[in-house]
Amino acid sequence: MTMRRMDADFVILGGGLAGHAAAYWLSEIGDVALVQKTPPAGSNSAHAQGGIAAAVGDGDSPALHAADTIAAGDGLCRAEAVERLTARAPEVVRWLMELGVPFDRDAAGRLRLGLEGAHSRPRILHAGGDATGRHVMAVLAPIVAARANVVCVKGTATRLWLAAGRVQGAMVRTEDGLSAAGNSAGMADAARDGAGAAAVSETMLVTARRAVVIATGGAGQLFACTTNPQGALGEGLALAFAAGATLRNMEFVQFHPTALDAGDNPRFLLTEALRGAGARLIDSEERPILARHPLGDLAPRDVVARAVFACKLEGRPVYLDCRHIPDLAERFPTVYAGCLAHGLDPARHPLPVTPAAHFLMGGITAAMDGRTDVPGLFAIGEAANTGCHGANRLASNSLLECLVMAYELYQSLRGDAIEAAGTASATRAGSVDAELDAELDTGFTTDPPAFLAELQQWMWRYAGVIRDEAGLRMLLRQLAAWAEERPHSAAVCVAQRIAEAALARRESRGAHYRRDYPEADPRLAGVDTVLAGRRTED
Ligand code: SIN
Repeated sequence: MTMRRMDADFVILGGGLAGHAAAYWLSEIGDVALVQKTPPAGSNSAHAQGGIAAAVGDGDSPALHAADTIAAGDGLCRAEAVERLTARAPEVVRWLMELGVPFDRDAAGRLRLGLEGAHSRPRILHAGGDATGRHVMAVLAPIVAARANVVCVKGTATRLWLAAGRVQGAMVRTEDGLSAAGNSAGMADAARDGAGAAAVSETMLVTARRAVVIATGGAGQLFACTTNPQGALGEGLALAFAAGATLRNMEFVQFHPTALDAGDNPRFLLTEALRGAGARLIDSEERPILARHPLGDLAPRDVVARAVFACKLEGRPVYLDCRHIPDLAERFPTVYAGCLAHGLDPARHPLPVTPAAHFLMGGITAAMDGRTDVPGLFAIGEAANTGCHGANRLASNSLLECLVMAYELYQSLRGDAIEAAGTASATRAGSVDAELDAELDTGFTTDPPAFLAELQQWMWRYAGVIRDEAGLRMLLRQLAAWAEERPHSAAVCVAQRIAEAALARRESRGAHYRRDYPEADPRLAGVDTVLAGRRTED
C-alpha cells in the first residue's frame, strides 16, 4: 500500500452543507482539504426536502424562533446555543440569497414562508418547493470546488491523527484520488508519492496546520427504517470518540413520522411541509390519528412519530392524506415524483407511512463554533451536539445549524489561527512518518452490507421509537459481541453509544421514549448524558 501525504490549514471531513459552508468560509483564511465520502449531490443535506427556518417574516423575531426551538427541545436545550442559532438565521439566509439560492417567492416577489410542526409563525424558506437541500448544494458546492485553495478529496476518514495531545490530521482512505479542482501550490506538493489523481484505493495522511473539522452528519443508517442516505453511518462520531472526544445525549435520535412505507432503504421522505399545507394523518377508516392533540397533525415530531408507531404496533396502518392539497405536483415536485416512482399518486391515494430515523440530536460535544474538548478538533452540523436542539429538533433547524456553525467556526478561527498553526508545524517536522505505518492498520473499516442490515434490524427493534431496559440490555450484549469480532467497525461503536445512552436515561423526554419510564423526570431536565471518549493512542 502506498502512503501519500497532503497538508492543509484546515481539514474538513464531510461533504454536505456543513462541510461545504465551512470550506467556503475557512478558505477565506487558509487552504482547505475537503474530504467527502459521497459527491455533494449524494449528501444527506442535498436530500433535505424541508427548508431553512429563519425569523424573516412580519411579526416574527429570533426570540420567537428561539422560544419555539426551546419548547420543542423539551428541557434539554442550551439557551445560549439556541440564541446563537436563531439570531444568526436571518444573516445566513441572506448570505445564501447573495450566492444565488433561489428561495421560493410569491407573485409579488416576497419570500414565501412555510409553516411546519411546532413553529408558532410561518418562517420556513424553501427552494424549488420541496428541494431546498438540492438547490442550496447546487449553488454552494461548485463555488467551493472552484476555489483555488480548496482541494476536494474523495474518500473516507478512517482515524484522526493525534500528536502532542492535539488532533493534527486524519488518515483518509481515498477511492478516486484528488479532484481536479483547486490545488494550491502548498497543497499540491503535499501529495508526496505522486501527483494528480490516484487511480486505486489507498490511505493518505491529510494533516491540518490549524484545525480538523468533523462535518460528517448523522447516523440514520444504523436503523432499518431511515430517511438518511447510505453514507449516514456516524463515522465522524466514532473518529472523535476514539480520539478522546466526549459524546453527549446520544439517546436522542429523531424519528421522522412520515416516511413512505415502501420497504426500501432509505425510506422516501414525505416532508412535514405537507402537513403544514394541510395533509392529515389518518387510519384506514380515514379517522385522524392526532385528533386529540391541541396541535393536531402539527404536533412536535416525536409526538407524531409515536402516534404513528403506536397505531402500527396495533396493526393499524397509517396514511398521509394529501389528496385535498391544491397544486400538489407544483408545490411538492420532489414528493410527487417520488410517490409516482413508488406507484402511488398522492393526489389520488392516501400514502402509507412509517416513522424512520431521521436526525441525531446527540453527537460530539461542541460549542456553537464547533470547538470540542479535544485540542485541534472541531465538530459542526449534525455530527455535533451543542444543545441547540435539545431532546427534539424543531423542523428546518438542521440546515440552519450547518450554516450557522460553519460561520461561527470561521469567526472563531480567524482569531486564534497563529497559536494553532505554530503547534501543528512544529510537530509535523518531527516523527510523523515513523508513526504512520503502525496507524494504518488501526483505522475504522467499512462493514459488509449483510452485517449492517443485521445491525440495523437490532437497532430499529431495541433502540427505535419505543425502548425499554430489557431490549436495550439485549442489544448491548449483541453489540459487545460484535465489537469483539469487529473492533474497527464505526457503526458498532456508534450504535453502542446510542444504546448505552438510551439505557442510562431512565425517563421519556423528547425523541427518547422508554416504555418502562413513560414520563419525563423533572430532575433530569437540563441533565445531559455524557460519554467520555476513549482515546486509543496518543
Ligand atoms: C421535512 O421536510 O419534514 C424534514 C425537515 C427537517 O428535518 O427539518
